[in-house]
Amino acid sequence: MRLTSALVALNLAFVQSTFAATQDQWRSRSIYQILTDRFARTDGSTTATCNTGDRVYCGGTWKGIESKLDYIQGMGFDAIWISPITKNIEGQTPYGYAFHGYWQQDLYQLNSHFGTEADLKSLSDALHSRGMYLMVDVVTNHFGYDGGPDNINWSMMNPFNQQAQYHYPYCQVDFSDYQDETQITQCWAGDQQVALPDLRTEDSDVRDGFNTWISQLVANYSIDGLRLDSALQVETSFWSGFSKAAGVYIVGEVFENDVGFVCGYQNYLDGVMNYGVYFAAINAFKSTSGDMSGLGDVLSSVKNACKDTGLLGSFSENHDNPRFAQLTGDWALAKNIIAFTILTDGIPIIYEGQEQHYDSLGGSGDPYNREAIWYSKYNTGAELYQEIAQLNSIRKHAVNDDSSYLTYDNWAIYSDTTTIAMRKGHMVTVLTNQGAQGANYTQSIPGGFDANSQVTDMLTCNSVQADANGNINVPMGLGLPRVYYPTARLAGSGMCGSTSSSSSSSSSRSKRLAPQSVRTMPRRRPNIHV
Ligand SMILES: *[C@@H]1O[C@H](CO)[C@@H](O)[C@H](O)[C@H]1NC(C)=O
Ligand SMILES: *[C@@H]1O[C@H](CO)[C@@H](O)[C@H](O)[C@H]1NC(C)=O
Ligand SMILES: *[C@@H]1O[C@H](CO)[C@@H](O)[C@H](O)[C@H]1NC(C)=O
Repeated sequence: MRLTSALVALNLAFVQSTFAATQDQWRSRSIYQILTDRFARTDGSTTATCNTGDRVYCGGTWKGIESKLDYIQGMGFDAIWISPITKNIEGQTPYGYAFHGYWQQDLYQLNSHFGTEADLKSLSDALHSRGMYLMVDVVTNHFGYDGGPDNINWSMMNPFNQQAQYHYPYCQVDFSDYQDETQITQCWAGDQQVALPDLRTEDSDVRDGFNTWISQLVANYSIDGLRLDSALQVETSFWSGFSKAAGVYIVGEVFENDVGFVCGYQNYLDGVMNYGVYFAAINAFKSTSGDMSGLGDVLSSVKNACKDTGLLGSFSENHDNPRFAQLTGDWALAKNIIAFTILTDGIPIIYEGQEQHYDSLGGSGDPYNREAIWYSKYNTGAELYQEIAQLNSIRKHAVNDDSSYLTYDNWAIYSDTTTIAMRKGHMVTVLTNQGAQGANYTQSIPGGFDANSQVTDMLTCNSVQADANGNINVPMGLGLPRVYYPTARLAGSGMCGSTSSSSSSSSSRSKRLAPQSVRTMPRRRPNIHV
């Protein structure tokens, strides 16, 4: 209030520009999604019991994550997303324990099951010293309560401890009517057994409470980005103030199969989880008779509807949806959908356990898709672990070779009932849902390469020659994905027998991720009170 309007304008301009830089720092990143309770324990146990159906705390911690950063970085990830960190409902509810972190009660206390303040700061420091980013899951739509909506003990909640700060009279949210903003933002998730008290995020005291909290949280733990739970259930006018207070990249959860609707949230948030493409990709790859041409159609609608596809979250598994391997056990299909996830537009996100081909052990979706990762013994030799490492390094090569790769909208240059070829920058990715038992076939792809030039599949290092029109004949075998790049542009990458520019690929990676690039990244908005 004491500032002149000129100063305010100046400060706002500065906020905008640093904010944009933060988004750009995230574009090239690749995220490993961690459900903190299920990833790694402080004691390093790989045998501790964890029955997903029991919905109890299994003992994963922030210290455990810190001890397994080599495993994560070994796949080429340079960011992690962890479960919400705040204090949740304690003890057993009719729906089990709050091991997932989505039933918070106190914004100013940490979830002690995951560790201490020192543990979380130590994790954050360890990430930054490796040049990795920390993304934290946050919930602004609701709190959690072990009981129904009519008898809530508000004094358990902090800082929102007044009934007047929540939406009453109670109504249960109807997700099928998601276009009704009043209903979707004011009715409650949860039920009469475990209520999820729905905050009046439209009120200024609640907004101020969240804004103060998030700016402190980001500063206290040097958080680099946020994943917003239930973004659909908070009115869109909430986000600009919250985003400014956070001052970091935000990707929201709008869990709907409606491309135009989901893309619309990019008017309020930096990014959204790309649910439209998620559903289309699952439909394309979940079986050998999946809908491949539908995937191409959805890619082109997203390209048109989303403001900035490079800032979307690209995923094919998460803690809310069935494991891919539970839909099909075919390894070739698993490899294709992972190649799609990492090489299509947006920031790739791989959910813990996808690299181990976890399949929920016969259960479907939540809570069965939340298996303990320690059971895998963190096997770095696992086939999909290796494939993910290869794909992350392929993506890094494309980014280093051509900075416009990250803003080039991926599009389907070819599709038929079993094959899709997509172009992004100089890269042409050819995917198939023929599966591991599929026929060997040769597919002609209008690749748009230089006439008669040589192009290399970076996954196998096999090369083909483009014809006079730039088309290539792609040998599709064993149902595996192909990722073509002009052979001449591999020079200096160290890939597929080309020389490497600096010394080794690992030293060029550490150069790109040098700590100073993290330090110069503004993690907080500048102090606008000065
Ligand atoms: C309500 O919660 C407070 C704080 O946890 C606790 O001290 C009090 O006993 C609770 N009241 C009832 C009626 O359970
Ligand atoms: C941030 O740290 C300060 C100083 O220790 C503390 O007073 C504040 O409650 C913390 N806020 C959050 C959200 O962690
Ligand atoms: C396809 O080719 C591979 C070797 O390149 C071979 O192992 C496989 O059996 C062939 N599959 C079919 C269906 O012919």
